Amino acid sequence: MNAIRCSWVGALAAMVWGFGMAPLAASPKPAAKPQVIRDMSPVVARSSPADLAVGKKLFEANCSTCHGLDGAGGRGPDIQGVAMRLGDQPTGSIIRGGIPGTAMGAFWSLTLEEAGQVLGYVKTLGASATGTVTGDAAKGRATYEKSGCAACHIISGEGGGIGPELTRVGAMRGPGYLRATLLTPGAELPHEAGAMERGRFTLYLFMHAVTKDGRAIDGMRVSENSFTIVLQDAAGRFHALRKLELRELKKEPGKSLMPSFKDRLSAAQLDNLVAYLASLKGAQ
Ligand code: HEC
Ligand code: HEC
Repeated sequence: MNAIRCSWVGALAAMVWGFGMAPLAASPKPAAKPQVIRDMSPVVARSSPADLAVGKKLFEANCSTCHGLDGAGGRGPDIQGVAMRLGDQPTGSIIRGGIPGTAMGAFWSLTLEEAGQVLGYVKTLGASATGTVTGDAAKGRATYEKSGCAACHIISGEGGGIGPELTRVGAMRGPGYLRATLLTPGAELPHEAGAMERGRFTLYLFMHAVTKDGRAIDGMRVSENSFTIVLQDAAGRFHALRKLELRELKKEPGKSLMPSFKDRLSAAQLDNLVAYLASLKGAQ
């Protein structure tokens, strides 16, 4: 799986080189064209103390909401040591161009120099406690299988699809986020996690409805228009409701169909489960 990512990054790097080199070799850049031409030159890490200070600021402003202040991950993955794993240039290409189809967007707003400063700073982010996964992934897999997770989640094609697919959740999320999800589901709904979810930021919104004859339905909003709303309950059943026939309809952000596993798993089981989830980096 890593090999797939690596060769993909390699191809991207090659592409970036190709695009970057060809026009330079052929002719000098035309001066003032209405269209902005992206400078595809490779990003070079800048690591002087002054560069690192700027890089830190840029990282905190642009990256830390997803990758954490220490780079150990959150909504986005752990990126400590990423440049060592992928290489400076592929990492720089990701910083500037993003990873298409994922929440990792492009940062063309950063100049080549600024991207180099961010890269330099990212390289200083060492392993920190929040990023460490201490559990045993193999045992965590057994816990996953015993805990009924597969009733709502799909991993590599197996399971049910009420909740988000987890095949690549370890590549998309940091361990701290994974742990928090198990303890307090719904505290942070998945944000634009990938191509499938793009533009559907209200996915998994929990709602409470009561019909005029007193029937209460709790579920996730599947679709909604002016007249009807469709909710899916924890058993996977769909309820198509006419709004005119409802006495009550309210959003309950922070609630989730996913049960909390706080009191159901021991501390060791939780560690193992987080290790298992963090190891899920399946090919896409
Ligand atoms: C909106 C959230 C978000 C922001 C902001 C963000 N990232 Fe990401 N980033 C992600 C996600 C999600 C991924 C994983 C994408 C995937 O593979 O599905 C990722 C992946 C990466 C990777 C590749 C990690 C790997 O192991 O392959 C690097 C490097 C990276 N981001 C660096 C940055 C830097 C530097 C910034 C700031 C300039 C930044 N990111 C801003 C969400 C974000
Ligand atoms: C009754 C259905 C249900 C069960 C059972 C369930 N989940 Fe979930 N899970 C969801 C839903 C729905 C979400 C979407 C976000 C939310 O509502 O909290 C979710 C979100 C998640 C996420 C966050 C995914 C992301 O990309 O942000 C993880 C990780 C997760 N669940 C893991 C598990 C594990 C591990 C188990 C078993 C211990 C489990 N879930 C059991 C329904 C369920």
